[in-house]
Amino acid sequence: MTISHVTDLELTVAHVRQAMSSAPAAEVVTAIRALVAGELTTGRGFVVIRCSEDLTLNGAKRLVLSLSHVLGAVMPQDYHGEQIREVRDRGADITISRSARYSDTRFGGHLHTDGMHRPGHIPDFFTLFCYRAAVRGGDSVFVHVDDIVDRLRAYDGVIDVLQQEFHFDSRDTSGIGPRTVRRPVLEPVQGGMRINYIREYIQSGHAEPGVPPLTSDQLRALDAVDAVLADTTLHRHARLHRGDLMVIDNRRLVHGRTDFVDSEEPDRRRLLLRTWIDARPTGGRV
Ligand SMILES: [Fe+2]
Repeated sequence: MTISHVTDLELTVAHVRQAMSSAPAAEVVTAIRALVAGELTTGRGFVVIRCSEDLTLNGAKRLVLSLSHVLGAVMPQDYHGEQIREVRDRGADITISRSARYSDTRFGGHLHTDGMHRPGHIPDFFTLFCYRAAVRGGDSVFVHVDDIVDRLRAYDGVIDVLQQEFHFDSRDTSGIGPRTVRRPVLEPVQGGMRINYIREYIQSGHAEPGVPPLTSDQLRALDAVDAVLADTTLHRHARLHRGDLMVIDNRRLVHGRTDFVDSEEPDRRRLLLRTWIDARPTGGRV
């Protein structure tokens, strides 16, 4: 199913300018909080806020950070403290290079959740702001954890195995962080399950020296997850247009995108801006 023009909230030019220059207006804050409590965390798991203003890249970054602060604390995305990441094709391939990140590629597939490979708190939400769309493709693809768990019930014992810890490759080449981070794939929480997933990182995490190889039960469980994720009847598609800010529930949706084709001209290539959000009441500041 493709939802090509979903807009849950439309900000006026005045709202955009105010959010960029200081903080969002009170009515914008109220509207965003209502979206968080509704569609984001108890509905489809993502919302789109349209920002009707032609922005410079720096202006767009200020806007994204300002709106992100309404959602919670903005988390660093690498060991150097980067708060806002430019998501663009950097020619990377996560299946070839250990340091490669999905956000640096143009390939689709590899459905995953964000930030599970880093130690500490996993982003509750992440945002994607469309600064420039691709020439073709690049739609977001989502699968809801409830649908995944529902399908996994057909595989005997697999849900139990997925609640045990796996080693996720940290993809850290700085030498600052650990080589792997241990987490379950499925975590029961009140009212359902949360999910942490990217097959390639688990596979390479268990290939690290000193890490036990995946057992046959673990391989069977991961294969079952992949089989469920490959079922396109569970996929929900959304297309972002320039100026759209999408907020995604990173703990309940597995996400990816379709392959995309970029412009020949470097300054017209697909460019998204991403933040990771810690939505705990303490904002990570305990
Ligand atoms: Fe991602």
